[in-house]
Amino acid sequence: MIDATHLLRHQLVQRSAGQTVRQRLAEVLRSAVLDGTWEAGAVLPASRVLARELGLGRNTVLHAYEQLTAEGYLSADRQGTVVCHLGPRSGSAPPGLHAAQRYGLPPLARRALPTLLQPGEDETPLPFLPGIPALDQFPLERWRRRVAQAWRAVPTGTLAGRDVGGEPVLRAAIAGYLRASRGVRCAPEQVVVTSGTQESLVLCAQLLADPGERVWMEHPGYLGASTAFVSAGLQLVPVPVDAEGLAPPPALWRRQPPRLVYTTPSHQYPLGVPLSLSRRLALIEHARRAGCWVLEDDYDSEFCRGVPLAAMQGLAPDAPVVYLGTFSKTLYPALRLAYAVLPEGAVDAVMPALARRLSPGRVAEQEALASFIHDGEFTAHLRRMRRLYAERQAALRQALQQAWPLPLALSPGEGGMHLAMALPSAVDDREVVRHARARGLEPRALSTYAVAGATPLNGLVLGYANVPAEQVSERVRTLASAVRQAMARE
Ligand SMILES: Cc1ncc(COP(=O)(O)O)c(C=O)c1O
Repeated sequence: MIDATHLLRHQLVQRSAGQTVRQRLAEVLRSAVLDGTWEAGAVLPASRVLARELGLGRNTVLHAYEQLTAEGYLSADRQGTVVCHLGPRSGSAPPGLHAAQRYGLPPLARRALPTLLQPGEDETPLPFLPGIPALDQFPLERWRRRVAQAWRAVPTGTLAGRDVGGEPVLRAAIAGYLRASRGVRCAPEQVVVTSGTQESLVLCAQLLADPGERVWMEHPGYLGASTAFVSAGLQLVPVPVDAEGLAPPPALWRRQPPRLVYTTPSHQYPLGVPLSLSRRLALIEHARRAGCWVLEDDYDSEFCRGVPLAAMQGLAPDAPVVYLGTFSKTLYPALRLAYAVLPEGAVDAVMPALARRLSPGRVAEQEALASFIHDGEFTAHLRRMRRLYAERQAALRQALQQAWPLPLALSPGEGGMHLAMALPSAVDDREVVRHARARGLEPRALSTYAVAGATPLNGLVLGYANVPAEQVSERVRTLASAVRQAMARE
């Protein structure tokens, strides 16, 4: 075991202006590995021990360890946190940016770092994974028939791909749906069909901001959005969320004016609170004055309790808002169809730039979806899912009341497809997630939604839309045992 305390205590104090303790700690650890102060295979002290000895928060140390692990300097194994072999001839490949070194290849870009998955994180939808709709309730047979019918009508000429903004019938169907159900001001020409909100965000980042410009992100916030912005070279500015949603301190507009503001106003992701009407109007007004764009991600408004507030996009004429929606929640994620609605005045400027960035395709699925919406099947499916998710949420709340081994601290938001809850600081959310995964469950740690080094919240995000009500009690009991095991380790 390395005696790291002496070295670190000495070097930690030499922080450069504006550098946080967390950044300095990562820097010192990195150079100790690079200059050979700590040899490959040496074991670092447990984060809790090091935090105590240095008088730091445990999360500060954990974050630095995780960052260096993702970069490939450290790795976690049964002994604890271990220094990696960095030489190109090394037998063990360090993970992260340097993983390809084993094959003599260069490292990945540094900006890929915050977007690398942690070991064990993947997209297998186990129970409680947030964002997955009730897959077993999707009318698959009827959908299959519609897609088959659409394929029969597809003319050969369209196989090369055609309309950049999407199939005209789908753009018209989406515009009609959004006008009627979300108060969005839009004509079909303003609708751009994409392969997911992820793609919509990448396009917004590329077309509306230049590298190095600031994007305000709700903290905690949607990782897919941070990934899109970081990949476009934008600078993330975490903005707190309170009981009324996104809550930028007034001085922030002056001190760190944004080029983009990303927000989930109907149901903040992941905390669940809606953005109040007065905040919506203030945000539009501020954005106009600051000359910045607002990206309104309305990812699950269809399942909000009661009548969700109308979309920000429709609150004022010519608001500088790009409205984003997806069929990943309302239908199924692998459909990969979503939409961005441009302000009317931006259509002529943006469309030509999209031509080089969007590769139109999936004509039959787009046609099938247009007829699904047009014939009323879409809204009928939504009505059914709204009822079902309300039942599933109620079952989850009840099971948590009965079996949760800690004081229950659910975040106040209602409706949607997930619940967020706080955990006491003594119970590490990532440990809980690790034990839950070993039991076949996949809640998300709230700390992983932290934006750009802002202090992570400690808690869990539980997706329930894909967990049948009759299975919820047992799943919650299993999750409670994962919590107990994490507590026993503390
Ligand atoms: C906040 C938020 N926006 C959008 C999406 C959907 O993204 P996509 O359309 O790329 O599937 C998700 C999915 O989890 C989400 O959580």
